[in-house]
Amino acid sequence: MLALPSTLFLSLLGLGQISSQIGFLSVNAYSIVKDHSGSTFFDGWEFYGNYDNLTSGDVNWLNQPDAFSKKLVLTNSAGNAILKVDNTTDTPYPEKRDSIRITSKAAYGVGTLWIADIVHLPFGCSVWPALWSMGPNWPHDGEIDIIEGINLMDHNQMALHTGPNCKHDPLPATAQKGKPLQTDCSVDAGCTVQETTPNSYGVGFNQAGGGVFATQFDAAGINIWFWSRPNVPKSITAATGTSDISTDDWGVPSASYPSGASCDIGSAFGPQRIVLDITLCGVWAGNPQFYDPQCKDQGTFGLCYNDNVVGSGTAKKFDEAYFEMRYLRTYTNGTATITGLDAAGSSSAGGSSGSSTQPGGSNGANQTGVPSSAMAIFSFSWKSLAAFSGIATFVSL
Ligand SMILES: *[C@@H]1O[C@H](CO)[C@@H](O)[C@H](O)[C@H]1NC(C)=O
Ligand SMILES: *[C@@H]1O[C@H](CO)[C@@H](O)[C@H](O)[C@H]1NC(C)=O
Ligand SMILES: *[C@@H]1O[C@H](CO)[C@@H](O)[C@H](O)[C@H]1NC(C)=O
Ligand SMILES: *[C@@H]1O[C@H](CO)[C@@H](O)[C@H](O)[C@H]1NC(C)=O
Repeated sequence: MLALPSTLFLSLLGLGQISSQIGFLSVNAYSIVKDHSGSTFFDGWEFYGNYDNLTSGDVNWLNQPDAFSKKLVLTNSAGNAILKVDNTTDTPYPEKRDSIRITSKAAYGVGTLWIADIVHLPFGCSVWPALWSMGPNWPHDGEIDIIEGINLMDHNQMALHTGPNCKHDPLPATAQKGKPLQTDCSVDAGCTVQETTPNSYGVGFNQAGGGVFATQFDAAGINIWFWSRPNVPKSITAATGTSDISTDDWGVPSASYPSGASCDIGSAFGPQRIVLDITLCGVWAGNPQFYDPQCKDQGTFGLCYNDNVVGSGTAKKFDEAYFEMRYLRTYTNGTATITGLDAAGSSSAGGSSGSSTQPGGSNGANQTGVPSSAMAIFSFSWKSLAAFSGIATFVSL
């Protein structure tokens, strides 16, 4: 990977003039770094290329060639990027279903801003999508969960995950719109904030025409905003893939994690790579504690895997299980460190195999959604627990 000082990559992008203007920009102003949109949306990502060995989901995350040839990633007629679960192929018991997980090659340091304009979010029984980021050494370099939901939830849930010594102190309502659930960022769930703005996930999000999520990753704090389509601020609706942006008209964020004595963001978070993925069932969506209240009655078996993942491709169960993205844009405040940025914009396949070597969905016994030992230990929000932790976390369960 390339490791370029920000002034160098700006000039590689033909934006060298920006650095000379920074003295005139307000503290809320950011310069565009990368515009993932249209036919180049999928440039600059690694495709996972393995089954879900992180959250015990019942999917094969395809490598890049398979993802394109099986049309689980594509650019639609509106020019938007689609990332979807396979809804055309029959999945015999005990196999897994194909899906997508992509990770940005670029790693974004403090002083960056990421904006996702999304027309449709995946949802449905068994479906567990996320837009999130993580540092190289999990959890000590942190994780930011921007969008995460399961099954038929009607609201988004945000979170940070960190090593020890990071707490989310209570904030006045003037500082954060969402409802804090957990305050210790080092617990399994992370320090979660439940979205309270309507239409942040599921049917409501999609029927409103989607919306925009923005994440400000700064040494002074991490802030996440959500606007449903009718309420997206003018600074964002007027922005293009080459323009800079100001946060001046953004208002109060949905989740705010200010840096301070209870959590030093600059030391709890390393450079973040951005991830988009959809898994099925697994340790959160498939956990009966969460699956049953919304979905148990919707199938013959009352089990996440058997009632959803297995079966006919045309059963319509995954017709809503897709992201439709207008863009994901990244920005810098001018001095942030960004590495791995591919100046040529090309991308390469990550991983090695698509779907042929995975263990079966249920290892021969019908699934109850999650190993019971996992259920006993965790409650929710998991994906990274396995992602970087001692790698052993899931292997040992
Ligand atoms: C950019 O953000 C970083 C991290 O918060 C900060 O240290 C730096 O001073 C900022 N630079 C500018 C030009 O605002
Ligand atoms: C498991 O469930 C599948 C249907 O999903 C069924 O065909 C199979 O017989 C079941 N196996 C066991 C061991 O119960
Ligand atoms: C699969 O889902 C898409 C929406 O993502 C829908 O347009 C299509 O008709 C579905 N295909 C089948 C075979 O059901
Ligand atoms: C999961 O699979 C990936 C890709 O093959 C591999 O790099 C990683 O080490 C695996 N992680 C675990 C926890 O098994």
